[in-house]
Amino acid sequence: MSELARIKSGIEGLDSMLDGGVPEHNQTIIAGGPGAGKTLLSFEILYHNAKAGIPGAFIALEEKPEVLLSNVKQAFKGFKDIDDLIKKQMIIIDGEDPSSRIQTESDSASYSFGNIISDIEAIVRRNNARCVVIDSISLLKLMLVDKYHYRRSMLMLMSNLRRLNVTTFLTVEINFADRDKLKYSPEFFIFDGIIMLYQMSREDRRTLTAEVVKMRGTNHSWALAPYEITSGGFNIYTVDQMGEIP
Ligand SMILES: Nc1ncnc2c1ncn2[C@@H]1O[C@H](COP(=O)(O)OP(=O)(O)O)[C@@H](O)[C@H]1O
Ligand SMILES: [Mg+2]
Repeated sequence: MSELARIKSGIEGLDSMLDGGVPEHNQTIIAGGPGAGKTLLSFEILYHNAKAGIPGAFIALEEKPEVLLSNVKQAFKGFKDIDDLIKKQMIIIDGEDPSSRIQTESDSASYSFGNIISDIEAIVRRNNARCVVIDSISLLKLMLVDKYHYRRSMLMLMSNLRRLNVTTFLTVEINFADRDKLKYSPEFFIFDGIIMLYQMSREDRRTLTAEVVKMRGTNHSWALAPYEITSGGFNIYTVDQMGEIP
């Protein structure tokens, strides 16, 4: 049997939760409340892959690329070679185009979603990215208020990314930071993978925990794993416990 091709997150705890990494070409949601670390986690995955020779594209839809870059460098002071990787085009940060277009479009319904898709495709082709982050798709949801169009547009975006043969991480903002209050919105079911970042309030402090809710094509941990964000990247603490495929 041939070994399943995987894209490692490069974060030890997460890779062990994923039985070695995300199956290549999967489209995975990273969901959580504000400040949970969605942007930083998705960037870190691109960073480790770029260091391993896998080019990545970060499509920043919510903040300008230079703002994103400065936030990431501020948080990950230990990652000294970010600029170098960008210079070598192992990481491309872009997306100003689609985001400014979304934000300035007064009649969002008239804005063709196809334009966003072709913008994203152009960015991905620029460095032949194999790993893509879209941060975040929540903005697209705002733009496409009609549920039917949103779902259809998401499917269009995903089939396009599939055609480009990339492995994609899409961040999603959710309202409830606490796991007990969470209800999955229907579009979660169309993606191959869901990684949740929860912020649970326990007494007087916030506890951050990660969970792999689903990941098509691989066995994965079903346990909640506490994590912390440090200047050297995410630390995700796992118990050695892989789930059985039901
Ligand atoms: N310099 C830093 N040092 C430590 N933690 C940081 C630093 N910068 C940001 N963080 C942590 O990262 C969180 C923001 O991460 P981010 O990925 O932007 O969240 P999200 O995209 O989910 O809103 C902050 O709430 C904070 O906990
Ligand atoms: Mg963010």
